[in-house]
Amino acid sequence: MANVLVTGVAGFIGSHTADALLAKGHRVWGIDNFRTGNRGNLENALRQGLEFGAIDMLDAGRVSRFIKGKDIDVVIHLGALVSVAESITDPDLNFRLNVEATHGIAEVARRHQVRRLVFASSAAVYGNEPALPVKETASPSPISPYGSAKLASEHLLLCYASTHGMVVRVQRYFNVFGPRQDVASPYSGVISIFTKELCGGRAVSIHGDGRQTRDFVNVADVARANVLAATKRGLATGVANICTGRSVSLRRLVSTLRGLCPGTPPPRFAAARPGDIRHSLGSPQRAKAQLGFRAERSLEAGLRELVRAVRAAE
Ligand code: UD1
Repeated sequence: MANVLVTGVAGFIGSHTADALLAKGHRVWGIDNFRTGNRGNLENALRQGLEFGAIDMLDAGRVSRFIKGKDIDVVIHLGALVSVAESITDPDLNFRLNVEATHGIAEVARRHQVRRLVFASSAAVYGNEPALPVKETASPSPISPYGSAKLASEHLLLCYASTHGMVVRVQRYFNVFGPRQDVASPYSGVISIFTKELCGGRAVSIHGDGRQTRDFVNVADVARANVLAATKRGLATGVANICTGRSVSLRRLVSTLRGLCPGTPPPRFAAARPGDIRHSLGSPQRAKAQLGFRAERSLEAGLRELVRAVRAAE
């Protein structure tokens, strides 16, 4: 069993990852400052034994004191600014949360002799890569401050592998969706925004022509991929896409959701967002080969589950 520290534990991916680790019997410490995470996400994890600290990940001294003497084997660094759009409106915050924090957490990990670090990177590092499905061997070419910061962090961390012998696993998540994704924030993921609007009988707003495509991966699959990256024996340092290998357009997504919420109005169209990737589709082969990970949940089943959850919460 491993001792694991999760940053951003009260967030969407963080809380599901903590649940999945605890379900496998690992010991989990988690930190969050509730900027975008929320305490409600931790209900199950706290019941299952999560040791939680309300700590800002930028405060390396407090993070260090929190894990002192805990013999942490693995750090899963998920704390981040998650929105491409927000990275454009607030590039300073993007730099602090997506680059500076990575450096601080890596230094804490090194000082505590942590052997493995798992990092939440993103498909955004690829930019508008023309050869799809995109493989990890493609040259990254981000087109947003968010994507550039994730790529900078990847490089910072991969040096910890070569310099200090830490195993670093870079997880390039594609578009993660599922329960607990913030429904209230305009910077949240498109599926959570669309589900909430359509369940409330309101029209959604599509940025651009709606023909952009995304590879949507369920958060339960992503949490499982994180557990594998954190705990699989004998893993070497590496970078892997966490995706399904299938993509859909936003138009298609809206029509599927409208089918699940009959009687909802058609979408409105707004200006395309700067920094938006046109097509995003990952190759899942390397994650299968290295982590033994394959996404199992279908988009349709995930959307049905979400619509049920949003309705139940209303
Ligand atoms: C998302 C994630 C990011 C992750 C990346 C990996 C969020 C907020 N962002 O970025 O953390 O690293 O995938 O690929 O989860 N859109 C609309 N209307 C809306 C909201 C969005 O049309 O109301 C469009 C956007 O313009 C974009 C698409 O939906 O074309 C997806 O947007 P979004 O969910 O914000 O995700 P990404 O920018 O792809």
